[in-house]
Parts: sequence; C-alpha cells; structure tokens
Amino acid sequence: MNIKCISFVMKRTYSKIFMKYIFIIIFVLFIFSGCGEKEKGIGTGPVKFVELEALNPELAESGKEIFDKKCRICHLESGKGMGPSLQGITAKRKPEWIMNMILNPEGMIKEDSEARELAKSFKNHMYKQTDSEEEARKILEYLRQTDEVR
Ligand code: HEC
Repeated sequence: MNIKCISFVMKRTYSKIFMKYIFIIIFVLFIFSGCGEKEKGIGTGPVKFVELEALNPELAESGKEIFDKKCRICHLESGKGMGPSLQGITAKRKPEWIMNMILNPEGMIKEDSEARELAKSFKNHMYKQTDSEEEARKILEYLRQTDEVR
C-alpha cells in the first residue's frame, strides 16, 4: 500500500467513527429533548386535553350549581373573597389548566409556575373540592358561560 492509499483508508475509518459519534450524540439529544416535555399552559394534573364545542347551557347550569356550593364562597365576583375573582378566567387560562386547578390545586401550586406565582398573593390556598373530572368539566362550562355573557 502506498501512502496515498493508507491516508485514504484512515480518513475513511476516522470519518466513519466520527459519523457514528455524531449519530449517537444526535440520538441522545433527541431522546432527552422529549423527556419532561410538557405542553405549555395546561398545568399539572389528570386533564391533558379538553375538546371545547359550542357552549352547552345545560352543562353550564349544572356547573353553576356545583360552583355555588363549592367555589363561590372563596371566589366572589368582587374579588373580595379568600381567592381571586374568576372573571375572564377562560380568556386567561387554557381549559385544561382550569380543570387541573380544580382537580389538583395543591399539585398546581407546587409545580405549575403560573399557579405558584398566583398563590404568592394569598395567605390561605385553594384545596381540592372534588375528584370528579365530570364536575370539573361542568364548572368549566359555567365559567365559559359567565365569561361569554360579560
Ligand atoms: C377555600 C377557598 C377556596 C375554595 C373553596 C376554592 N378556591 Fe379556587 N382559589 C383559591 C385561592 C386562594 C386561589 C389562588 C391560588 C392559591 O393561593 O391557592 C384560587 C385559585 C383558583 C383558580 C385560578 C385563578 C386564576 O386567576 O388563575 C381557579 C380557576 C379556581 N381557584 C377555581 C376554583 C373552583 C372552580 C372552585 C370550586 C370547585 C374553587 N376554586 C374553590 C381559593 C379557593
């Protein structure tokens, strides 16, 4: 083998090894970039996706009943209750975020940056009033309705 040939072979093997490492690095980065990826703004809790349709007044009506029993005491319209007024909430937050706040307030305050930020303004924090996704969905519909009417 002459020198030219040797350097050719070496270049090829080196570039092969080099390419292999590049591929491994890209692969590892690809895997890790997927880890912990959360959809933005949906909060943390059981609700990952809500499909909204045209407002359903019946659903909103039963949502109002639950809201009156479990939520209104803290969430007065005037904002003078223990919690904030929920006026305009459906424009401010994603539906999944709202439902997760209802179903997992403690987890949200701990792990969701927006909920944590909000909680800084309150001495007493929200605690869970229901485990039922169905109830949370009804309340969401009621909140959509009140925001629409305003
Ligand atoms: C004991 C009082 C209390 C009750 C009862 C309560 N909340 Fe809350 N809520 C709060 C407080 C306080 C916050 C602000 C975050 C914190 O510090 O916990 C809050 C925050 C929220 C937020 C986020 C508001 C924003 O601006 O992003 C939503 C949505 C919400 N509550 C919905 C509800 C619903 C729906 C119910 C009834 C199932 C309910 N809450 C019951 C006290 C309460």
